[in-house]
Amino acid sequence: MDPRELIRSTLVEPSILSADYSRLSGQLEQVLAAGARAIHVDVMDGHFVPPITIGPVIVESIHDQVHGAGGLLDCHLMVERPEHQIDQFVTAGADSITIQVEATPNVHYALGMIRAAGCLAGLAINPGTPVEAVSELRESLDFVLCMTVNPGWGGQPFIASSPPKVRRLRELLGDDVPIQVDGGISKETAGVVAAEGATLFVAGSAIFRARDPGEAYREIVAAATLS
Ligand code: DX5
Ligand code: ZN
Repeated sequence: MDPRELIRSTLVEPSILSADYSRLSGQLEQVLAAGARAIHVDVMDGHFVPPITIGPVIVESIHDQVHGAGGLLDCHLMVERPEHQIDQFVTAGADSITIQVEATPNVHYALGMIRAAGCLAGLAINPGTPVEAVSELRESLDFVLCMTVNPGWGGQPFIASSPPKVRRLRELLGDDVPIQVDGGISKETAGVVAAEGATLFVAGSAIFRARDPGEAYREIVAAATLS
């Protein structure tokens, strides 16, 4: 399906940050077979956040499998000055690229670069960043990511003040802009943020650290859509 249509539906996005990289293809197969149609890729540079994780070579190596299943690749750049990295992710096969509002003084410019390359543009805000940070950029983005943990690590607890923040974002943005949540999302927390207006649910450890990632994916879908 067209990424532009997919992103406007309710999606649970497995984050490969918590996958077992020695058998990444098999793990992707499990969640794609269970129905996942968006795969979330967490890119960290050791500057914006302390860890260094994965980059465009991984996107390049999985894009055939994900696109072949009708899925999209959603790249979340937790990197300083993301405008210097966007081209590499576009070339590698990204369908959407999210930048952090805190990571560059040139947010409007970077969002424009992403769209000009034909990708969907996401804008992320950290837990300490007020929702108003996105208010001048509504026409320049395709979705907003409300971080529900501090970026940098999988497996952290969901920040309890996140649901009212999602509600304030929904009030600010109106109904048309998809709101993504990322961090501590599980079958216990997905419904709570869905009720406040989130539609895109990133889940890493709750899916890939589960005994059966496909079943865990389906349980979060149920929680996100039954709210
Ligand atoms: C955190 C990343 C998340 C991470 C979430 O910095 O942006 O995408 O994979 O992991 P969980 O779902 O384990 O909190
Ligand atoms: Zn992420």
